[in-house]
Amino acid sequence: MRMKQDAMSFVLEKSKPYQCFGIGRVWVGLKLLVFLGNPSDIEVSKVLVVILSSQVHLQKSPEYHMFKPWFGNGLLISSVYVYEWRLCDWTGDKWQAHRKLIAPTFHLNVLKSFLGQLNANSKILVERLRKEQLSGKPFDIHDYVAETTVDTLLGESRALSTCCLPGHDTVAAGTSFLACILGYKQDIQEKVVQELYEIFGDSDRPATFNDTLQMKYLERVILETLRLFPPVPVIARKVTENVKLASGYTIPAGTTCIIPQFYLHRLPSVYPNPEEFNPDNFLAENMSKRHYYSFIPFSAGPRSCVGRKYAMLKMKVMISTLFRNYRILADMPYNKFPLQADIILKRSDGFIITIEERRKMVAT
Ligand code: HEM
Repeated sequence: MRMKQDAMSFVLEKSKPYQCFGIGRVWVGLKLLVFLGNPSDIEVSKVLVVILSSQVHLQKSPEYHMFKPWFGNGLLISSVYVYEWRLCDWTGDKWQAHRKLIAPTFHLNVLKSFLGQLNANSKILVERLRKEQLSGKPFDIHDYVAETTVDTLLGESRALSTCCLPGHDTVAAGTSFLACILGYKQDIQEKVVQELYEIFGDSDRPATFNDTLQMKYLERVILETLRLFPPVPVIARKVTENVKLASGYTIPAGTTCIIPQFYLHRLPSVYPNPEEFNPDNFLAENMSKRHYYSFIPFSAGPRSCVGRKYAMLKMKVMISTLFRNYRILADMPYNKFPLQADIILKRSDGFIITIEERRKMVAT
């Protein structure tokens, strides 16, 4: 159990001395894993671009198979190549067919039509939390948020709910991290609330799509949360053809390339004070200075998250409703969170916060 809880910190600690190298390899028995660790290194960034934007290296690595019991054969792992047992050898056809099928579900107009449901579920979340506010005791916000994301699932279209189950756990994790961080960073919470006051005043009307577009500061806070705590902390791709690097190295066909977002998002060469929670990292002028692949919580390229826009919309509605109703408090600094990464990054000690009623949002 201890190993599971500390695995994330253990791997990060051990990798520190190697941070100056953009690329590294590990043999696990006869299996070669290559870690791509530095997007500002031109050579490695080329490999990242080659692998993530490729129409060829689309196969999820065989290691995803370990997670199959949780996700079934949904889109997230549909081209898992289970060569060890020769059970099946899916090509990307199945993936392509599924992706084509669900793509229209994420069209902006369709997303807008989910707003009523998202608002209704966020209100239910606020009601469910009432007993925690009345008790004033610390509790795990993840339990409530996860329940709400599943409720929303039931209202959603069939394509969304069958293909995108894992998407809801990532939203729940992202939202829970954000609540804990802002519970500790009261100054940032106040800025979020101020922005919401400018949009809604004291009204408790539901959020419109246009309102969500006005939540610019909240958007930066969400992105900064996904930078420090990407709910999917690593992704893996099986390289199906040799990839030759300018340095002379070749990544051989069959290698598993590991792209560790958690690590990429904290590189001091890319983010000044990388451990600090700073929503200004996502001001346009700062974003334009970075390599596009230095922030990839939703992955990138043709196999990237199809639910990205929906996830952002859902988080904006849920989090804004939460902060319009409650003030969140938390004791633990975000750099002390004990982390656990099964496939989704979580706090191993629970997402503990307390809440108080926010009677009126007062303009400063
Ligand atoms: C904060 C929330 C989310 C994060 C951080 C996230 C992250 C990711 C990442 C990193 C991948 C790519 C994995 C890989 O390349 O191996 C992915 C794929 C995917 N995500 Fe999300 N996701 C989120 C929310 C959602 C939501 C809400 C949905 C659907 C309702 C969704 C549906 C999918 C699907 C279907 C794929 C597979 C795409 C494909 O293989 O073509 N995700 N997501």
